[in-house]
Amino acid sequence: MILSGGLEPDEPIIKLVEGLERVVPIVQVQTGTFETVKIVGAVKSKIYAENKSKIELAINTFEKYTDTNALVDKIVTSRPEGMTPRMFQYEMVKRAKQAKKHIVLPEGNDDRILIAAEKLLKQGIVKLTILGKKEDIEASLKKLNLEIDPANVQIINPAESPDLPDFISTLYELRKNKNVSFDMATDLMKDSAYFGTMMVYKGLADGMVSGSINTTQHTIRPALQFVKTRPGVSTVSSIFFMCLEDRVLVFGDCAVIPKPTSEQLADIAISSAESSIQFGIEPKIAMLSYSSGTSGEGEEVEKVRRATELVKTRRPDLQIEGPIQYDAAVDPAVAKKKLPKSKVAGQATVLIFPDLNTGNNTYKAVQRETGAVAIGPVLQGLNKPVNDLSRGCTIDDIFNTVVITAIQAQQ
Ligand code: ACO
Repeated sequence: MILSGGLEPDEPIIKLVEGLERVVPIVQVQTGTFETVKIVGAVKSKIYAENKSKIELAINTFEKYTDTNALVDKIVTSRPEGMTPRMFQYEMVKRAKQAKKHIVLPEGNDDRILIAAEKLLKQGIVKLTILGKKEDIEASLKKLNLEIDPANVQIINPAESPDLPDFISTLYELRKNKNVSFDMATDLMKDSAYFGTMMVYKGLADGMVSGSINTTQHTIRPALQFVKTRPGVSTVSSIFFMCLEDRVLVFGDCAVIPKPTSEQLADIAISSAESSIQFGIEPKIAMLSYSSGTSGEGEEVEKVRRATELVKTRRPDLQIEGPIQYDAAVDPAVAKKKLPKSKVAGQATVLIFPDLNTGNNTYKAVQRETGAVAIGPVLQGLNKPVNDLSRGCTIDDIFNTVVITAIQAQQ
């Protein structure tokens, strides 16, 4: 901020500025506004190697006005501050709004879905299709006193949809070599999870969010069967964004693959790192186990060790450590003792669990014991985004999952 013409702010303004948490640089000059703008415009901010005097001035000014000891202390000892939960949620909504995607919600008979839908539409984040009987949904909207603009939402009853015959034949064609008869395809397509997934497959919606009433299996099986994996990916897995008090961690896989092989673990790690980049978190991958480095032995440790090597070979650009224990992964003090040379230990942001038992229980334990907000499971590896809700989900969980799905659909 430049105050021209020797302007001096009033005392209350100075007090206000001094009270700010972040330093606001203010420069006072004697020249008039026009002349000042001309001078500022003529400043060449680039510094080249041959500009010796500029470099010297920059270094001296930096040293004079910066508490370098405090800075060094921060760099050496603290965890990466990266993304705070507040920043994360704010950024997500902002990004989703950039390209309003069309999301289908098959469980229109759940009040939580309708309340979340109103919130999403009011904020202009997405376009929605809600599946269910029109008269039932309208009655629920009235009962819940919700205002949903009919221009922004379409309500479809799968059983009466003009798309139904086409959807049935498509499903039959896609699955006939898996012993699905035409009658079976007809029955399956009346199920709203199949119908919603087919809308996504056909490009009639950009993504689907379901699972507030149905189980994980029920929700994601249609996507596994015919949306299938993205090119170059063979495993569908999931992550949770764990919004802790001061940072956001990525936990994978806590919802899909019960007993991953080394190859699948490597896939999970790579997909989780890519998802974390997509959502603005720098990935430092910890392949979790009950052993850090060479401290422990056993079949399960070997599985994690092999998965780590596979990731290193397939994606040498990714930072990864494994096998590693949870404490050494996230606590710099423990990391210093157990794996002092590791660039990931103590600073891990992406935590890959060796199996579903460990992953699912750990995310729930962290969520319950610390009050962390767990956003997910976010499915990764699918050709098009489909996401699952937990049956105990809150309205905020539904809101967050739709926002994440909309961002995935932008890719
Ligand atoms: N990645 C890619 N494809 C897959 C995957 C995967 N992870 N899993 C299954 N498939 C494919 C199969 O290859 C198969 O394809 P095909 O029919 O074209 O040959 C198709 O999907 C169906 O395979 P099934 O083995 O029959 O899989 P099923 O549908 O029975 O089960 C499921 C898949 C639901 C993911 C299963 O692994 C499962 O139940 N996982 C655990 C889910 C769970 O209970 N999670 C915990 C609760 S969630 C929570 O707490 C948040």
